[in-house]
Amino acid sequence: MSYLIYARKYRPQTFEEMVGQKAIVQTLQNAIKNNRVAQAYIFSGMRGIGKTTVARILAKALNCQYGPTPTPCNKCEFCLAVKEDRSVDVLEIDGASSRTVEDISPIRDTAKYKPIASRYKVIIIDEVHMLSGHAFNALLKTLEEPPERTIFIFATTEFHKVPATIASRCQHFEFKKISQKEIVNHLLDIAQKEKITVSLYALNLIAEAADGSLRDAQSLLDQAVAFSGEIINDDDLKEILGVISKDTLFECSSLILEQRPAEVFALIEKIMEKGHDLRFFYKELVQHFRNLLLARSVQELKDLLPLNAEEIGQLKTEAAKASAEEILRYLVALQQAEPGLRYSSHPQIYLETVLVKLCHFKKIVPLQDLIQEVEKIVKEREAASRGLSEPPPGIKTGMDKERGVEPGLKPVPVQQAPRIKVEEDKDIFHKIVEELQKEKSSLAAVFSRQTSFQIKDETLDIKFHPEKRFVIENPVILEISFPAGEDFYRETVQKDIKTVERVASAVIGQKVKVRLIDAVDGNANKRDRDLELALKDPTVQTFMDTFKAQVLSVEPIKRSKQKE
Ligand SMILES: Nc1ncnc2c1ncn2[C@@H]1O[C@H](COP(=O)(O)OP(=O)(O)O)[C@@H](O)[C@H]1O
Ligand SMILES: [Mg+2]
Ligand SMILES: [Zn+2]
Repeated sequence: MSYLIYARKYRPQTFEEMVGQKAIVQTLQNAIKNNRVAQAYIFSGMRGIGKTTVARILAKALNCQYGPTPTPCNKCEFCLAVKEDRSVDVLEIDGASSRTVEDISPIRDTAKYKPIASRYKVIIIDEVHMLSGHAFNALLKTLEEPPERTIFIFATTEFHKVPATIASRCQHFEFKKISQKEIVNHLLDIAQKEKITVSLYALNLIAEAADGSLRDAQSLLDQAVAFSGEIINDDDLKEILGVISKDTLFECSSLILEQRPAEVFALIEKIMEKGHDLRFFYKELVQHFRNLLLARSVQELKDLLPLNAEEIGQLKTEAAKASAEEILRYLVALQQAEPGLRYSSHPQIYLETVLVKLCHFKKIVPLQDLIQEVEKIVKEREAASRGLSEPPPGIKTGMDKERGVEPGLKPVPVQQAPRIKVEEDKDIFHKIVEELQKEKSSLAAVFSRQTSFQIKDETLDIKFHPEKRFVIENPVILEISFPAGEDFYRETVQKDIKTVERVASAVIGQKVKVRLIDAVDGNANKRDRDLELALKDPTVQTFMDTFKAQVLSVEPIKRSKQKE
């Protein structure tokens, strides 16, 4: 079974039949009407959105027996020849498989001769960015001395890879993604013509999976019909779109986490054999890794994922094969590769490459870690020679501990503006102490020991919320420093820190976090600097991007128990 059936059958034969791309269609039709067709065009955009289709309609429009006309007849000999792929004057060349000068020489040669049977010779080069440098040069020569009555149309999914020397000689049309609504309407149309019974809900699921590509949507509908016949029920369709998500996804993550690159190829083959869309599979895979990351970093998953206990257990077991930090890195790499896959004209090869790379990921020590290792050694040497053993600062994300790697912090100038002026601070502070007095006088008494305090609002708090989200709150930070050697007081406050926070929140009228620091080593400046540095750390940034999270505090990593 070929699942390009609908794509072929429903390839538009006129400009009017095109879905979307209105501006492009109109511009071309006007150009034909006014006899201002350009010598060369570049059509760019993702796959399956009509580039080749428009190129062929344009070829017909120029050569139709009743033309040049914006509305080719589709009946005359020339129109039929194009439609049936047998026109001698319309050449379609695949840039991906024609990379050398020899491959391109037929173009140069044919371009030299006037069209045989038609008004115009139309040369369509698909994936033109794949041509080699030599082939490009040959093409460029042809474009510099444009042969008479020859039109070039270059299609590409990666416009940025087309050399400027070529692009500057062409009129460029950027084809747009097809909207979900347009895709659904188009599918409805096909369903009606093919007498397929399918719900609007199901068509929306397909459109969503197709992500802007009409051809992908058509082939998903093809697969659905192949699977369930002419009556597609929603569950079947979910099955088709979703079968990917269970066993295959776990199979794939196991390959990656257990570093078995050789098996990647067979897996992709299997996925393709089942007729799955690779891009859809990829989306599910990204989601799967996000779930694994959650499973690895959060104890109570029940409220975060719509899964039953058994499924959660399966996730946890799988996630245990790597550290949370590693899974985070996989997830980030997968996300970064997604646009590439979407635009790739060879998704299978692309996907294989990405997955094989991920299989080797654990072995590749990030440069960052290497730098840290070196820094650590240097620091330890220095410390040893001075007889000090203070642990270097790290970022507390709950991940670093596992591998004992501390993020590399480089010196950066510090700048932190206090939110409330000191005089105001004093006032507020006294109010807080007053209120504490009412609640717990012993606690309030301790506060007289503090040497300085400061109110800030620079940090955010990450929370796991029952509704699957990471909620970010923006608390005010109340920083209190105690004089050296006053550990008792500090610990007393520490024990009741929740009470202090509650009371302070009530006084200030905003959520308050209390931070206790040592006046001696620490003080706010060092903390500020650590925070500043932490925010510049790539690992931290990735974490923040992925979860829309922010750093709440930076603390020294507790090394091994013996050292403490
Ligand atoms: N804009 C569109 N309007 C109608 N059908 C489309 C459109 N884009 C793609 N298709 C469908 O997808 C198939 C492949 O489209 P094609 O023009 O080859 O895409 P591209 O060259 O952009 O990869 C067509 O045969 C047609 O059935
Ligand atoms: Mg094409
Ligand atoms: Zn015609």
